[in-house]
Amino acid sequence: MQDLVSGYGEVMILRDITFAVENEIFAVLGANGAGKTTLLKTLAKLLPVASGTLAWEGEDLTPLPAYDLPQRGIAYVPQEQNVFPDLSVAENLSIGGLTGHRSRAEKLEEVYTLFPRLAERKGQAAGSLSGGEGQMLAVGRALMQDPRLILLDEPSAGLSPLLVDTLFEKIAEIRAQKGVTIIIAEQNAVKTLQIADRVLVLSLGQTHMLRSAKRLSRKKLMEAYHI
Ligand SMILES: Nc1ncnc2c1ncn2[C@@H]1O[C@H](COP(=O)(O)OP(=O)(O)O)[C@@H](O)[C@H]1O
Ligand SMILES: [Mg+2]
Repeated sequence: MQDLVSGYGEVMILRDITFAVENEIFAVLGANGAGKTTLLKTLAKLLPVASGTLAWEGEDLTPLPAYDLPQRGIAYVPQEQNVFPDLSVAENLSIGGLTGHRSRAEKLEEVYTLFPRLAERKGQAAGSLSGGEGQMLAVGRALMQDPRLILLDEPSAGLSPLLVDTLFEKIAEIRAQKGVTIIIAEQNAVKTLQIADRVLVLSLGQTHMLRSAKRLSRKKLMEAYHI
């Protein structure tokens, strides 16, 4: 994205955001209300691009509707309401598997290997899963699309520290095994920095800093969160 501006109706939230992702885990950090969800929604084409450019693999995404993104290798995991509560675990995953070239069964097997808990609960309604299991299902559904880019919005929200550890280990594993690029928005900066390659810190809808995760000191990060 280049000089991207977006928001809700007349109210612009993101101002002049510029970055390019490579094959990496790219973290979007920032305090509550900084614009992380707005950024991911704009990337997912759920909010219009007011100005600037948005492209993926050389193609301009601006004119495309959100439903065209899965077939272009982009999977979006929203912060909330990211599973169909009345459908079973297996049905949720199957819906994710409608795109791509590989068979659904093969992908399903991979997701169940990565998240054995989902295999144990395949017949259970998604709405009855625990918070951690629900997040695993949402990530699993995204993986069923065989994506080249996953947009993950605050997967750790509402999870206990132990579950956050497990989920982040899985995210790092997905990155390592599949070579998929991951853009992850998080409030949990400390954990995210452990798996991220680069970090964009947003503050009031603007880029506060963009740098390698290794080069981001705790002091710098704290400064960003206090603006
Ligand atoms: N639907 C909406 N309409 C108007 N403003 C919104 C809407 N959703 C979020 N905002 C505003 O956009 C800003 C950024 O919110 P958000 O992107 O959700 O932040 P974050 O995900 O970093 O917590 C906040 O000021 C918030 O109030
Ligand atoms: Mg958010």
